Amino acid sequence: MQSGLSLAFVGAGRLAQSLAPAWVQQGLRVVAVASRQMVSAQALAQRLPGCEALPAEQAVARADLVFITTPDDAIAATVAALPWRPGQAVVHCSGASELSVLRAAEQAGAGIGGFHPLQIFSDPELARARLSGAVAAIEASAPLRGTLWHLAQVLGMRPIELPPGSRARYHGAASFAASFMLSLLDEAVQVLYSLGLDSDQALQALLPLARGTLDSAESRGLAGALSGPISRGDVAVIARHLEAFQGLGAAHLGLYRDLALRQLDLARRSRRLSDDQLSALAQLLSAA
Ligand SMILES: NC(=O)c1ccc[n+]([C@@H]2O[C@H](COP(=O)([O-])OP(=O)(O)OC[C@H]3O[C@@H](n4cnc5c(N)ncnc54)[C@H](OP(=O)(O)O)[C@@H]3O)[C@@H](O)[C@H]2O)c1
Repeated sequence: MQSGLSLAFVGAGRLAQSLAPAWVQQGLRVVAVASRQMVSAQALAQRLPGCEALPAEQAVARADLVFITTPDDAIAATVAALPWRPGQAVVHCSGASELSVLRAAEQAGAGIGGFHPLQIFSDPELARARLSGAVAAIEASAPLRGTLWHLAQVLGMRPIELPPGSRARYHGAASFAASFMLSLLDEAVQVLYSLGLDSDQALQALLPLARGTLDSAESRGLAGALSGPISRGDVAVIARHLEAFQGLGAAHLGLYRDLALRQLDLARRSRRLSDDQLSALAQLLSAA
């Protein structure tokens, strides 16, 4: 990597608030931050020694490598409005956007790339502590590719490469381990709420279970971690679940049934059930 590389961020939101201080802590230079509102840029820049909050054109002019950390829908217009130069590089951090959104910078001679940290950044401080061990999905040509691999590795992240054209599928898959997991917990909270638990109480009751499940998945793999009535072939218990969820309405019943049907794949792979048990479960669920 080029020694003394200078970094800048355009978009001082949750991701920038996590990545910029993490790189500075590792001795990298973040020289400028820009954002839609100067006050956001200032709030981040003041936490980074040697960094200034600047209008985006000036921030870009100062840096060798610029991270565009605006919302995805603003990336293309933001990049098209800024002055780029050969020898400079611009990188977005979107999981789902192709590198074509950076075309304007490429046409001006800059290198372009993608650096997507596969982590959740709702709380920038918490996320910063969890960068180490997380994957960074990188898409870029040399020499930028090597620089981005290095930037991932200094944070203890594990770089992987994404083939061109694959980002929407990759990002959609990641949703299952992040925001969709929140939706699953939300479903469980709503059902417990219908029994009189308040939402906080319900979430606190479910989180240790969710953590235990993730720990088991890590140690035993998905099929090995499977437990619950489907893993045991307890058809009568599933019938009682279906009846209970029918009482809650079609949306609750439909979600339960679709997930339970999908779980039959894991049950098959766990090799704990006979074909007869698997077909009895499939029949019951398909009829619901
Ligand atoms: N959050 C995550 O978990 C996560 C994970 C991986 C990747 N990412 C990616 O990281 C990128 C940033 O996401 P985020 O979660 O950090 O978003 P965010 O918290 O909403 O922050 C985006 C920031 O961009 C600024 N902004 C909005 N429009 C702008 C414009 N036209 N020009 C300059 N700045 C603008 C806003 O600034 P003001 O405060 O100045 O209004 C806002 O602070 C996205 O591409 C996202 O897909 C996010």
